[in-house]
Amino acid sequence: MKHFVAPSLLSADFGNLKPEMDMINRSECDWLHIDIMDGVFVPNISFGFPVLKYVARLCEKPLDVHLMIVQPEKFLNEVRALGAYSMNVHVEACPHLHRVVQQIKEAGMKAGVTLNPATPVSSLTDIIEDVDIVMLMAVNPGFGGQAFIPHTLDKVRELRRMIDGSRSKALIEVDGGVNRDTGRLLVEAGADVLVAGSAVFHAADAIEEIRVLKNL
Ligand code: DX5
Ligand code: ZN
Repeated sequence: MKHFVAPSLLSADFGNLKPEMDMINRSECDWLHIDIMDGVFVPNISFGFPVLKYVARLCEKPLDVHLMIVQPEKFLNEVRALGAYSMNVHVEACPHLHRVVQQIKEAGMKAGVTLNPATPVSSLTDIIEDVDIVMLMAVNPGFGGQAFIPHTLDKVRELRRMIDGSRSKALIEVDGGVNRDTGRLLVEAGADVLVAGSAVFHAADAIEEIRVLKNL
């Protein structure tokens, strides 16, 4: 399959959400990535559901919701009410990950599990056949515009081997520090979905940048 591109709302101009969403709708991107932070699991706070309801109304692309919060299962109904396509939770935030994954799927969404840079791919051995998406953080979560951690490429290759050697059909998504250079390496390593915040929204021509990322 051709890889997907998911621009991250975090780097959008929040004073111009309507034109930003018009750009997303016109572009070749596949999903819109949405970062929800709580100031507890990560050292930052982004935006919450009152703002996201408005974004969800304007955006015609599937919403890929990344919860950087403790106890993400508490907000399952709110995420579903947005009409989200996928709900990504951090394994580090879920002591009962298997239960949360089942709850996300029962709610009709794709279940994504996300690993911080220091969390090994091997931590997924016993859940890999239950999840729809594995997202690898290529930066420490909390902020856009950080530098890509190169070791992520090894993790993508290891995860590719794990998935291909199992019955799992999970997509490999990578979030953080993705641009046209790191993006190419990630696709070569076996990534299926590229999340890009600053590379897209800070580009002189965001539509063109999305086209470039899509055609790596
Ligand atoms: C970081 C977020 C990312 C962020 C990526 O905590 O999860 O989705 O928006 O931004 P860039 O692409 O600028 O690294
Ligand atoms: Zn994210």
